[in-house]
Amino acid sequence: MTVPIIRVENIADYVDQEVAVQGWVYNRTHKGKLVFLLVRDGYGFVQCVAFKHDLPEETFEQIVHLTQESSVEIRGVVRADQRAPGVPGGYEIGISDFKLIQRAAEDYPMALKEHGVDFALENRHFWLRMPSQWAVLRVRAVVIRAIRDWLDDHGYINMDTPILTPAAAEGTTTLFSTEYFDEGTAYLAQTGQLYNEANIFAFKKVYCFGPTFRAEKSKTRRHLTEFWMVEPEVAFCDLDALMEIEEQFVSYIVQRVLTDCAAELQSLGRDTSLLEKVTPPFPRISYDEAVKLLAKLRAAAEDPEQRELLAFEWGEDFGAPHETALTQQFEKPVFVYGYPTAVKAFYMEPWPGRPGVCKSVDLLAPEGYGEIIGGSERISDPELLLQRIREHNLPEEAYRWYLQLRRYGSVPHSGFGLGVERTVTWLTGIRHIRETIPFPRTINRVYP
Ligand code: 4AD
Ligand code: MG
Repeated sequence: MTVPIIRVENIADYVDQEVAVQGWVYNRTHKGKLVFLLVRDGYGFVQCVAFKHDLPEETFEQIVHLTQESSVEIRGVVRADQRAPGVPGGYEIGISDFKLIQRAAEDYPMALKEHGVDFALENRHFWLRMPSQWAVLRVRAVVIRAIRDWLDDHGYINMDTPILTPAAAEGTTTLFSTEYFDEGTAYLAQTGQLYNEANIFAFKKVYCFGPTFRAEKSKTRRHLTEFWMVEPEVAFCDLDALMEIEEQFVSYIVQRVLTDCAAELQSLGRDTSLLEKVTPPFPRISYDEAVKLLAKLRAAAEDPEQRELLAFEWGEDFGAPHETALTQQFEKPVFVYGYPTAVKAFYMEPWPGRPGVCKSVDLLAPEGYGEIIGGSERISDPELLLQRIREHNLPEEAYRWYLQLRRYGSVPHSGFGLGVERTVTWLTGIRHIRETIPFPRTINRVYP
């Protein structure tokens, strides 16, 4: 009789049935006539129990001596048992048949004990197999699926934008460059936005979604040098309309993760009560109000070191301590809009009547996670745009096409970029962004 090869994530559907599981031995405990294996099949972790009297002696001995990460095929009946560990927990398989595919070498580098972060990163190819990393990356995949589903269902068309580009878009200090044949230097894209500003005039609402690159010199828990960003761009859209889109979009992603990743979040020990509150509308405060709020928080801070960290003056950009303090004041993500023009990119529309302020908006995630979205209304006037390009010392020639867009049917338009890894860091409640991408790239690491 053939039995179905199941995915452990669906094990609840197979109680009292005989199934097969193909996977790897994560852990083994031997207690007299019983061996408990914790087996992972890529979709989950399940306890499998070998009972000496149910199996040929040779098979049982093989199981007794299994090494961590040995690849196996197991057959047996699924039982519901509250005590059984696993993801999802509460089920076990009584082993009736067993096949060893490969007995893993004894010296598996990621044996089940505490490892330092550097060691874990050096062994990322193995670290991925650990339950915490597995859970975080499963959440990542659902975040990506939710992003596409929402945009595809709301009239946005996917436009892939180039990764090799002729000029900077988000500041000249974080560019990765490469030789480009006889054309001189090309740069890895920091954003696909400028190309999407061309795409909207053909398709109205678009998004690009791909890897973006920043040679970030900073070693923080929020920065990668290669990260994934989704960037919607919308014609006939002002800053207010943009914020409405963002709050609908982010709320959908959060609710989707709560539904589709309940087992993963539970295994990570994530408190989901605050995530459940992430529904529109989100609070909106101006940069000016944020500056006042920071001054109040600083005055109230008892720790002098914290007071030092929160020092801030109008005109500066928020650092991590400021964002952390601000977002701790709100249960939901909070919009901060109207930043000083000087701290933002060259393409942002000025605030009416306040040339020193621009129609920008960042979305800061709660619980201290900080910026997950940067966005703005874009300059639609050709003269002003040219002036800005000059002020920022950007190569005019490389922006010829971008300037031309403003001469043929220019409209108010807006867009934003959401960082996938920042979002996953927040949703999974972990400390450091490097765990949210399979193979992180940071200032001091490109291996493995
Ligand atoms: O605020 P940023 O720089 O905005 C842009 O690039 C715009 N062109 C987006 C747009 O309007 N289309 O980046 C947007 C988001 C940030 O909020 C953050 O989530 C993420 O991208 N991000 C990073 N994530 C990880 N590591 C880094 N070094 C990041 N830099 C930005
Ligand atoms: Mg930003």
